[in-house]
Amino acid sequence: VGFGTAALAQDNYPVRQVTMIVPFAAGGPTDVVARIVGDHMSKTLGQQIVVENVAGAGGTTGITRGAQAAPDGYTIMMGHMGTHGAAPALYANLKYDPAKDFAPIGLAAGTPILIVAKKDFPAPDLKGFIAYVKANEAKINMAHAGVGSVSHSTGVLLNAQLGIKPAMIAYRGTGPALNDLMANSVDYMADQIVNVAPQIAAGTIKAYAIATPERSPALPNVPTTKEAGLPDYQVSAWNAVFAPKGTPAPIVAKLSAALDKALDDENTRKRLLELGGVIPDKAGRTPAALQTLVESEVARWNPILKGMGEK
Ligand code: MLT
Repeated sequence: VGFGTAALAQDNYPVRQVTMIVPFAAGGPTDVVARIVGDHMSKTLGQQIVVENVAGAGGTTGITRGAQAAPDGYTIMMGHMGTHGAAPALYANLKYDPAKDFAPIGLAAGTPILIVAKKDFPAPDLKGFIAYVKANEAKINMAHAGVGSVSHSTGVLLNAQLGIKPAMIAYRGTGPALNDLMANSVDYMADQIVNVAPQIAAGTIKAYAIATPERSPALPNVPTTKEAGLPDYQVSAWNAVFAPKGTPAPIVAKLSAALDKALDDENTRKRLLELGGVIPDKAGRTPAALQTLVESEVARWNPILKGMGEK
């Protein structure tokens, strides 16, 4: 097999379906973003992108599998602020380096964080919530998607700012966590807007605040943390497509162009915006911009989370 064969494989790519690993349960935020952008990328690539949910260990199980897959463009993954930002601070034996073991494809969506609670949570607003959790620390619990996930790291940050250590309940994603929140069987969580926006709008869960400087157009009635009395809690997540390190440059370019095109597509944008997703601008979608983001996120989260995870 000579150079000619490899070059041909890259020119023809893709000749069969592409697997996109989502490292969390189906129906959750990462899955939702993957399916929305994957739908349109499939059209551009002329081959189906099939989502495979490989949940566990805060997303690090699926991303480890993706990092170790053949770098041929047929296995890609949807990583996020947790798997490619927070996880290194929390897992001493993480089997991948977010900055070194991937061929970044591009940023797919920004996902602001909201403080949400079960519908029956006995507080009308964020100030009431804060007073309640401080007074009832021993009997409340927080849902999250596993150590190093977005909901875990942004939840740990929230709890640290409130000075509380509630029981932490791990799920295989915030999709299943949201089901328990709707069933009133878990108390609260910090979660990405694309997961919770429909349930907030439907009134099946409570939203106390969004942790961004401005309100979201998707949830205009939800106050910012600044408005609601917790101005220092400012945090947003992001979701991004990665391929394994060593994926040939022409394949990376095709995937990146397909993602860029998806994010320019009116229907794709509408679906993301309705859920409160933030669509990256052109400059923010490139592989180079994603590499820079990953490096800065690992550096940002490390001092915040060091010592708070698995040993
Ligand atoms: C998910 O898809 O379940 C989430 O992205 C989990 C998280 O990181 O909180």
